[in-house]
Amino acid sequence: DSVPLVLGIETSCDETGVGIVHGHTLLADAIASSVDQHARFGGVVPEVASRAHLEAMTATVDRALADAGVALADVDAFAVTAGPGLPGALMVGVAAAKAYALALGKPLYGVNHLAAHVCVDQLEHGPLPKPCVAMLVSGGHSSLLLVPDVATDVRPLGSTVDDAAGEAFDKVARVLDLGFPGGPVIDRRAREGDPAAIAFPRGKYADGTYDFSFSGLKTAVARWVEARERAGEPVPVADVAASFQEAVVDVLTHKALKVCKDSGVDHLLIGGGVAANSRLRALAQERCDAAGVTLRVPRPKLCTDNGAMVAALGAELAAANLPPSDLALPADSSLPV
Ligand code: KG4
Ligand code: ZN
Repeated sequence: DSVPLVLGIETSCDETGVGIVHGHTLLADAIASSVDQHARFGGVVPEVASRAHLEAMTATVDRALADAGVALADVDAFAVTAGPGLPGALMVGVAAAKAYALALGKPLYGVNHLAAHVCVDQLEHGPLPKPCVAMLVSGGHSSLLLVPDVATDVRPLGSTVDDAAGEAFDKVARVLDLGFPGGPVIDRRAREGDPAAIAFPRGKYADGTYDFSFSGLKTAVARWVEARERAGEPVPVADVAASFQEAVVDVLTHKALKVCKDSGVDHLLIGGGVAANSRLRALAQERCDAAGVTLRVPRPKLCTDNGAMVAALGAELAAANLPPSDLALPADSSLPV
């Protein structure tokens, strides 16, 4: 039939993701993560990630094919994250995708990682409204995008001027000795804490831009904790986690809704690893309801980095009859949307 079977490869950070889609239907979403290898460093080590991608690549492709119940020869097109991301990590995925496309004589689509985070929602909630606003929050990015058309027109409106939102979660978790990655454990601990216990700063809340800043918040948390420790007082971990988390999600949802209001768009999509945060989901829903905005958030497995999102965008580009990339496609660590 005319709906293409697309295999997508994602290697921009620490997940080796291989997804297979048939149009908007998800057939496989295989992941191999090197996150455990980075835990003792408290953050992703680029060289370790690149090597892990290389080791996991062919097995993850084979697993995705088996999960989807298709043969490599059935694939109509390959898609790969061309950027942004870690240069060495991206190169592994791009080289692999080129090899598969060349060997099978099938088209190759190099895709943008951020646009892919937006596009993945189509696999769960159907065609994206045009336009929609997207907020992508992860360990590597915190971006606000206006998306008239995910295949052809994705406009960046704002991003973080320092730490990404997920990075702030990871760094604060480190200050609180909660391990890596920090987001899920802060989310959990915050449930027993009081979000109003400590008034942490909301950098760039009301400056009128669509940019974020989280490094001041991270420093404020570290100073607060240090002061407690110096005074010989116990650190109320749950209250710190809840108050920090509230500051982050307050700013994120405030700015996302501001974009919707200013641009007159009534659909907001949230993606990226931090979109798994339970308080972010709850506050975003509350504020969207109040503003008459429809909220779309993919299930957590589709929010974090995965191959399905790359396949989804590849399928979208193919469906829009856009020209495939040529085999000189570079990995571009700072690829703009
Ligand atoms: O999208 P992702 O898997 O990878 C990239 O960074 O691109 O996002 C990972 C980030 C990490 O910083 C992690 O701490 C954060 O997402 N994260 C969360 C939660 N789950 C993952 N942050 C807050 N709350 C969560 N429940
Ligand atoms: Zn990502």
